[in-house]
Amino acid sequence: MKLIKSLSAGVIVLSAIAYSCGGGGSNSSESSSASSQPAPAASAPVSLEDKYKDDPVFVAGSAKAKESGCTACHMVERKIVGPSYADVAAKYDNTEANVAMLTEHVLNGFVGNWGEVPMPAHPHLAKEDVETIVKYVLLLKK
Ligand code: HEC
Repeated sequence: MKLIKSLSAGVIVLSAIAYSCGGGGSNSSESSSASSQPAPAASAPVSLEDKYKDDPVFVAGSAKAKESGCTACHMVERKIVGPSYADVAAKYDNTEANVAMLTEHVLNGFVGNWGEVPMPAHPHLAKEDVETIVKYVLLLKK
């Protein structure tokens, strides 16, 4: 009996939360169910960060990218000064040759593959660390 009582109390609390999230207030239940429909659909697309967040390549590379200052010019899904990582991942296959080539471009600086703005050289970074970041960049395919 006790269990059933607390269960039904839980159901009442849950439905109260669900109802208040509908945003309807004291309006009819018709309008609140209609207005709560589009919300889940709008939030459905998963970001690349969510898609890969548990991949060890992602975990290692995103931390290194932050600590190496790459994030000043690169974002995962939006172009800022440099191309988005998603655009880079779409352009190059994830092969050893491309990892080596892109690592050289980051270490020595490069211009011309994405436009007129050059990426500066990063001679102070360790090659293995840049490789870790480049592998993470190439992982970010949609
Ligand atoms: C000052 C801004 C800036 C910083 C800091 C920066 N980048 Fe870039 N990056 C750019 C620009 C601009 C380009 C486009 C260059 C071009 O047109 O070829 C670019 C291009 C790239 C590319 C694609 C290269 C190619 O040949 O297609 C990769 C990969 C990349 N950056 C990774 C990194 C990593 C990793 C770091 C951190 C170690 C970093 N970037 C830091 C501005 C920056």
